[in-house]
Amino acid sequence: MFSRFYPAEMAESSYDIDYEELYRQGYRGLIYDIDNTLVEHGNDANEQVIALFRRLNKIGFRICLLSNNQAPRVRRFYRGVSIKGVKLHYIFNAHKPSRKNYRRAMLVMGTTKKNTLFIGDQLFTDVYGANRTGIRSFLVKPINKREEIQIVLKRPLEKAVLFFYRKNRLRKLKNTNIVLIGFMGSGKDAVGKKLAEKFGYEFIDTDRLIEERLGMTIPEIVRSKGEEYFRDLETIVLKELVFKGKQNVISTGGGMPLARKNQKRLRKLGYVICLGIEPENAAERIKDEPYRELLPADEKQLARMVTERMFIYRMIAHRVIMTDGLSTDEIVGEAERCL
Ligand code: S3P
Repeated sequence: MFSRFYPAEMAESSYDIDYEELYRQGYRGLIYDIDNTLVEHGNDANEQVIALFRRLNKIGFRICLLSNNQAPRVRRFYRGVSIKGVKLHYIFNAHKPSRKNYRRAMLVMGTTKKNTLFIGDQLFTDVYGANRTGIRSFLVKPINKREEIQIVLKRPLEKAVLFFYRKNRLRKLKNTNIVLIGFMGSGKDAVGKKLAEKFGYEFIDTDRLIEERLGMTIPEIVRSKGEEYFRDLETIVLKELVFKGKQNVISTGGGMPLARKNQKRLRKLGYVICLGIEPENAAERIKDEPYRELLPADEKQLARMVTERMFIYRMIAHRVIMTDGLSTDEIVGEAERCL
C-alpha cells in the first residue's frame, strides 16, 4: 500500500554515501534536494557541501539541485557552490513529487533514469517523485529538527510509512539467503559469521562443506586431484545449496563466481554481496591465508588477478562493499544497510 513511498536506499546523511562505488556501478547523475539534505533549512552552501561536490565533480558525476523552494533561495545556494568552481545545475520551484522536473534535471545533466540517483530527506515529495519517475532514491536523515510547519506535520506520517518499509524488508529478509563473494582475505568468513548471528541465520562456508564431504583439506584436494576437480566440487555444492532453503549466510570460495555456470546460480541463491578489496592490498590481505597455492606468488600478478576478478564479482553482486580500511563490524554494518 505504501510501497510507492519506499526509498531504494537509506543513508545516515548525504555525506555518508559511497559515491565512488556508485560511479563504478555505472551511475553518472545525482539529483539533490537542498534543505535538510545538504544543509540546515534555509542555510547557504558551506565548506562541507563544496568539498562533497568538488569530490563528485572529480569522480565524474553531474549534479543537479532540485528544490521546491523559490528562486532567490536556490540561486543563492547555487552561487555559493558554483563560485568555488564546482559544476552543477539547479531547478527551483520544482513541484516535487511531480515528475516533470526530475525529467528536466536528467535532461540538463544528459543522464537517464538508469544512471541517475536522487538524494533527499522527505518521503512524500523527494522519494515519491523519484519513484514515480523511475529513479533510484536515497532517503537521508534530515540535517536538523528546525523545520517548516508543513514538513513537521508530515513527519509522523513518514514514520508510519518507514515502519511498514522496515517490516517489509524484514519479511523479505526472512525469505532469502545472503551470499558473500569476494577475493581471498576480503573477510567473507568473519563478516558472514557476524551477519548470521545478527539475523539468526545459519552460517555456511562452501570450502568447509567441500572439506567435510571429502575428508580432506582444500590444498590436499587440489594437490591430489587437481584444480578442475575442486572447481567441479564447488559447482556441485552450489547446486545443492540452491535447494537447501532460506535464512543462510553463505560464504563462497574466492574462485566460485568465475565459472559461468555458477554465476546465475549464485544470484538465484540469494542476495549477493561482494566484499571488495583494492588490488594493491591483496598481498597484505592474504599473507595469513592457508590456501595460497592457487594464487600467484608474484605481487603484480596477484594484483592483476584481483582486478580481473573484481570485474566479474561486480557483474554478479547485487551490492559491492569496498572493505579496505574497514573493521569487520563496519563491514557488517554496511552489509546490514544494503538489505
Ligand atoms: C580460492 C579461494 C579459497 C578456496 C580455494 C580457492 C580462490 O576460498 O576456495 O583456495 O581461487 O580464490 P576463500 O576465498 O574463502 O579463501
